[in-house]
Amino acid sequence: MAESTPRRFVVTGANRGLGLEFTRQWLQRGDEVFALARDPASSEGLRELAGKHPGRLWTALCDVADDRSVEAAASAVREVWDRVDCLLNNAGVGDRHSASVDSLDFGRLRTVFEINTLGPLRLTGALLGLLKRCPRASVVNMTSLMGSIADNGSGGAYGYRMSKAALNMATKNLAHELGKDGIVAVVLHPGWVKTDMGGPRAPLETADAIAAMVRTIDGLGPEHNGAFLDRNGGPLPW
Ligand SMILES: NC(=O)c1ccc[n+]([C@@H]2O[C@H](COP(=O)([O-])OP(=O)(O)OC[C@H]3O[C@@H](n4cnc5c(N)ncnc54)[C@H](OP(=O)(O)O)[C@@H]3O)[C@@H](O)[C@H]2O)c1
Repeated sequence: MAESTPRRFVVTGANRGLGLEFTRQWLQRGDEVFALARDPASSEGLRELAGKHPGRLWTALCDVADDRSVEAAASAVREVWDRVDCLLNNAGVGDRHSASVDSLDFGRLRTVFEINTLGPLRLTGALLGLLKRCPRASVVNMTSLMGSIADNGSGGAYGYRMSKAALNMATKNLAHELGKDGIVAVVLHPGWVKTDMGGPRAPLETADAIAAMVRTIDGLGPEHNGAFLDRNGGPLPW
């Protein structure tokens, strides 16, 4: 493949927040993005990007918690692309309602797991055939330092912490399984970033955090397979 061939990225939760900014920066430098979202048509950001980058942005509906929705989205990708260079499993939800063990909402916890943990596995399985067709493919799962057992100094947020810790384990498994096909699987922590989830007090601007992660994803190689990385590519404790 020539160096100038655009790279092809699939991004979940691409309608706002970090996913939208990844989409913007990859399109800006000439790459191609398949933006998946629960309701892509209602995203002003995606509409604006489609106008600016005709022919390089595709969208499809995808609820990562729903098997059939994920399969339909993967079919939409397969219809127009014959390979995927990078799958960014970015969609995720926080969990403000599980601070204490005596007041857990188990229905809500199950939903958080469906989205944060099982969603990335669904997408990876559904797009595996296309990932295997790239010589340097990667699966990048957006985790959080809150999913680190070693770093848990305060407790709380049961659903979010547990779902991201389980995502970390799932990613290590993916690294073992997919590494044989040359696919690199990592978990990436963005830092605390100003988005709807991060809130206005977050110290990091979205554009800066994403610029750092775009560089880190560009630099991924076999030596990173199975790693837990910060946005600049440094190692984080499990
Ligand atoms: N911001 C931070 O400080 C921070 C820190 C650590 C980790 N992270 C991680 O970074 C990722 C992105 O976070 P963010 O800050 O951009 O959050 P955000 O602004 O709240 O955006 C979350 C995205 O996930 C999507 N989503 C939620 N449930 C979904 C589902 N069932 N199917 C498909 N998409 C779904 C949302 O789509 P809708 O519009 O349809 O709801 C939205 O696009 C998450 O995995 C998060 O855990 C963020």
